[in-house]
Amino acid sequence: MIDLSTQTALAYGGHQVIFRHPDFDDRVIKVARKRIPRSWHFGRNKSRYGPLRDWHRTTNEYISMLSKTGAHCPRIPRQYGFEETSMGPAMICELFSGPGNTLAPTLGDMICQSHTDIGFLDEIRDDLTAMFDDLIAAGIEFEDLNPRNIVVTQNAQRVRLVIVDGLGSPALFPLTTFGARIFKKVMTKRRDTLVGQVNMAINKLEDQQELIAINT
Ligand SMILES: Nc1ncnc2c1ncn2[C@@H]1O[C@H](COP(=O)(O)OP(=O)(O)OP(=O)(O)O)[C@@H](O)[C@H]1O
Ligand SMILES: [Mg+2]
Repeated sequence: MIDLSTQTALAYGGHQVIFRHPDFDDRVIKVARKRIPRSWHFGRNKSRYGPLRDWHRTTNEYISMLSKTGAHCPRIPRQYGFEETSMGPAMICELFSGPGNTLAPTLGDMICQSHTDIGFLDEIRDDLTAMFDDLIAAGIEFEDLNPRNIVVTQNAQRVRLVIVDGLGSPALFPLTTFGARIFKKVMTKRRDTLVGQVNMAINKLEDQQELIAINT
């Protein structure tokens, strides 16, 4: 049993609280939040998995990837199973860290921060496309397009995006079951939505810099 009563959470999501694993620096512990959002109150999976329904989807998607490719895709966290904690059952997975031993910033942080430079956002946009190529190649579904579910890591100064939440599909017949062409088409549409959000942040920054240049 892991005691979390004296630990400070690294982050709070809408459904989960995130802690660093006390025994493994490179792993996070995810526990379900007590408050259960309304969306969990219906469907067959609610009765089987309750508030842990999303873990079922994530784990399912992970196994599906292993079965399709036989290998871990580095665009998603490695899964290390489950443990019991003082806050209830926990899912253990790979931690992506940022500067100064913090959690890696999310894509949402990056596109909201007005001080982010345009070159960096350009790199993020390029890697988004590469990330979707990798997901399509590994047949990984990713339903929740929220930019807070994607973290931006930097390895040897190279930007690399990773999806930390929202894996798998809640649909009865997930996209991947309809065939590779439809899957690719829908994933490309999702990629374009996210790229559009990064482009908006770039445009905003360009406008701001233009205004500053005019006023000086
Ligand atoms: N493996 C990880 N590595 C680094 N940071 C992570 C990881 N998992 C989660 N985080 C951070 O914690 C936050 C919340 O995690 P997560 O999205 O899994 O929780 P959630 O409650 O399911 O979120 P949501 O609000 O999308 O329902 C993320 O936005 C991210 O900042
Ligand atoms: Mg999330």
